[in-house]
Amino acid sequence: MTEHPNPELICGAQEIIARSQGLSDCHLRLAGAADVSAVAALNDSAIQHLGREGLFMSMDSQFILSALAHGVVLLLEIGSELQGYSIAVPAGPEFEPFQAVDPLISVGLLFGSAVKPEARRQGWHSRFITMRKQLFAENGYDVLQCTVSPFNLPSLSNLVNNGFAVTGLKTLLDGHPRFILMQDTSEVAQSVADPPHVPGSPTVRSLRLDSQSLRLDSHNLGEHEKLLSAGWIAKSINHLDSELCLQYEPGEVSA
Ligand SMILES: CC(C)(COP(=O)(O)OP(=O)(O)OC[C@H]1O[C@@H](n2cnc3c(N)ncnc32)[C@H](O)[C@@H]1OP(=O)(O)O)[C@@H](O)C(=O)NCCC(=O)NCCS
Repeated sequence: MTEHPNPELICGAQEIIARSQGLSDCHLRLAGAADVSAVAALNDSAIQHLGREGLFMSMDSQFILSALAHGVVLLLEIGSELQGYSIAVPAGPEFEPFQAVDPLISVGLLFGSAVKPEARRQGWHSRFITMRKQLFAENGYDVLQCTVSPFNLPSLSNLVNNGFAVTGLKTLLDGHPRFILMQDTSEVAQSVADPPHVPGSPTVRSLRLDSQSLRLDSHNLGEHEKLLSAGWIAKSINHLDSELCLQYEPGEVSA
């Protein structure tokens, strides 16, 4: 592989990994070229396990190699077995931002993560989100972006509960809709310092008079799109009659 264009990002990721270690048989490390086929296989099996198309983007070995060449791929191993991965790549000519921003603004992209079923619901995805946010914030990036299917509720909940705002909706190359989510890195230090959201606990938030709650179901994506194109954003996700809803408000995302 040719020299990485951004060695500071690699060093930053090594530091964040060192700070995040600590659980006895769980090990975090950066992927190298030798890990590409195992990561692609985990991506593949995660998609099969979801059982519905368009919830998670397929990433072949070539995509993962390219992510390694321009960004970082974090791995979770338990014992010596790969149990999860997570990708972070700076936006650039090879990886365009998901939502256009001023060209002077530097964007960090959070690509896919997957955790094997046996390691789920232990906070690993949440940890991967925090680590990638810290990586970009500490390396001078201004804005974070990612995409997620409106129907991938675990992933969407985790991202929104970790400070991302839903700011757009678009159809990706696989022909399926994805929300675009953004977060300013200036908010990262604050959100990491804040007491963490306790997943699963009822989220009590004051409803703003000018807010609107929209259910996440396949029949009302047009309504989400209408609000998003009018500049509204969703910064929280709530249960309403046992269904998940995004709560929108007229918004400003600084990028
Ligand atoms: C999405 C995924 C990465 C989540 O990984 P994870 O490590 O289990 O996530 P976490 O443990 O950090 O989840 C914490 C919270 O997210 C939400 N969540 C996670 N899985 C959930 C599920 N199946 N249903 C509902 N909420 C869920 C919950 O709020 C959960 O907290 P709780 O366990 O206390 O209820 C994992 O399910 C996965 O690999 N899915 C297949 C690939 C994929 O969809 N990747 C994301 C695409 S970007």
